[in-house]
Amino acid sequence: MIDLLLNYCVRQPYRLGRWALGGDWTRDQSTWDADYASGRWRHLHGAEEFGRYALIAGYVHHHLNLGAKGIVLDVGCGEAVLFDHLWGFDPGRYLGCDLSAVAVDSARRRHPGLRLVVTPAESFRPEGGERFAAIVFNEVLYYLDRPGTVVENLAHRLAPGGVVIVSIFAPRAHLQRASGAAVWQDLDRLAWPELDRLRLTNSGARLTWDVRVYAPK
Ligand SMILES: C[S@@+](CC[C@H](N)C(=O)[O-])C[C@H]1O[C@@H](n2cnc3c(N)ncnc32)[C@H](O)[C@@H]1O
Repeated sequence: MIDLLLNYCVRQPYRLGRWALGGDWTRDQSTWDADYASGRWRHLHGAEEFGRYALIAGYVHHHLNLGAKGIVLDVGCGEAVLFDHLWGFDPGRYLGCDLSAVAVDSARRRHPGLRLVVTPAESFRPEGGERFAAIVFNEVLYYLDRPGTVVENLAHRLAPGGVVIVSIFAPRAHLQRASGAAVWQDLDRLAWPELDRLRLTNSGARLTWDVRVYAPK
């Protein structure tokens, strides 16, 4: 009953709002699996995306160098491309989760032994006392129905001094969709201290991303 009420009073109006603003991008697991199987996301391994991963990997290394304890959780990790950029990183300190079994299979083939879980971010519950030095949401939040709630729930498992790192694609004006803006608004309501806010542009490929680093506690 509560779920039904939530659906009609909160989720549906939220989705409608996002749709009206230009973008409800939520998709189911089979669509993601088909996408990965067809190679639609292969470009994420290419040079034009390098800057985004390098930047996020840099933030992760920076916070771990400052002494943050715990592991790094990569939510919506896809094929774990971020791990490719975490040079010299202890694989035991990485945990990835993603909705797509096809993407996770590919990540497992590329990085045997890496800890990876197939699960929607919404229902992901980290094991026992696991604490995170950093939780990364790299180009995933606009696919979620209630991004702020998912981020907030997982942030309860941050270790002291842990950070949340978010990257959101900023499409070119003529392709403008408001999904990204809706996600930032949803995160703004958490009123977390921001350690950094950076806009990265690959001027060759004409790709822009907004990246923010939060220190929730
Ligand atoms: C654009 S890809 C980015 C992948 C990865 N973060 C990267 O940057 O290489 C978006 C990813 O989000 C995942 N995803 C979408 N909805 C999800 C959900 N509800 N829970 C977990 N992962 C989800 C997709 O399967 C896909 O791998």
